[in-house]
Amino acid sequence: GKGNYRHFMEKELHEHPAVIGDTLRQYVDPASRAVARPALPFDPATLPRLWLSGCGSAFLVGQTARYWFESLARLPTDCDVASELRYRNPPLTEGGAAMFVSQSGETADNLAAMKLLRAGGQSLVSIVNVPESSMARESDATLMTVAGPEISVASTKAFTAQLSVMACLAINFARARGAIDAAEEARLTAALLEVPEHAARILDVTDEIEAVAADILDARDVLYLARGSLFPIAMEGALKLKEISYIHAEGYAAGEMKHGPIALIDSKVPVIALCPSGPLFEKTASNLQEAAARGGRIIAFTDEDGAVALRRFASRVVVLPKVDPFVAPILHTIPVQMLAYYVAVLKGTDVDQPRNLAKAVTVE
Ligand code: M6R
Repeated sequence: GKGNYRHFMEKELHEHPAVIGDTLRQYVDPASRAVARPALPFDPATLPRLWLSGCGSAFLVGQTARYWFESLARLPTDCDVASELRYRNPPLTEGGAAMFVSQSGETADNLAAMKLLRAGGQSLVSIVNVPESSMARESDATLMTVAGPEISVASTKAFTAQLSVMACLAINFARARGAIDAAEEARLTAALLEVPEHAARILDVTDEIEAVAADILDARDVLYLARGSLFPIAMEGALKLKEISYIHAEGYAAGEMKHGPIALIDSKVPVIALCPSGPLFEKTASNLQEAAARGGRIIAFTDEDGAVALRRFASRVVVLPKVDPFVAPILHTIPVQMLAYYVAVLKGTDVDQPRNLAKAVTVE
């Protein structure tokens, strides 16, 4: 049951810290605090190319992982929505592998994409939350997320569990490919192991995010902006808002704003920015300033170091714990999912069963 929570989604949001911790414990060796070598049908050291596939939020996990696999592990990676991958007949690299992300393990398009890549000689790995699912059966190896049953149609804890698996793989692949040394591996693993604690702190302070929810409640459109590995999390925020609050929202790469979406900006279109301090901070902040100069209402999620500069022009700044940029996508997922939840609650929508949606999409 839901216990003391109003909705399954609220309960499942509060499970983020435990689920991330449980998932990390599966992949990180407690003694050495290094990522254990996962059982895979390929050697990450020599893999020429990796495909990632998923639908909806699972696709956005793939997009985030692509940033990690390419920038950290120097592994050429492609990522597609499964419904496109299954029909677009891409040239496949001999000896390549593919990973399929899915909470249910039953999503029809992802299963079909799997069969296509199998026929193309790729080795298949599924990252699923249900061990006896069709996708688990269809793959050469299965990496489990340890999220427990997810009841709410809007995915929450399964998403951060999937990101946690991907982050472990990124570290492991980076080490196997000689892209990082033991000290860097230890540093990244330590950052990852601190995520559950930070996640719990974010869930503790809900009033600021509830205030943001009240701010955007009457908006017709909302823009979510970010750069780098946070860009897919901006899209996740937008997807969640659409899905359960029925407000139109789009996630954009911050640098793309001036190529079109800036035309939408006025005081009625809230701009939600994921903008922690780090190498891309100045670039993102200057995009936000451009939006503010056109009357845009900027709502920024950042950390203590980013807050000072953003307060000069943002109408609201929500300060999150300062973390290594590597783990920022996992942490920023939590407030954007919470935000969608609070907006939906204020709107009085059917949070756990949004209209027209099913938990597992088993038809094409
Ligand atoms: O079970 P799956 O992870 O394969 O489901 C994929 C999507 O249908 C799913 O993530 C959907 O986008 C969610 N409702 C998002 O909250």
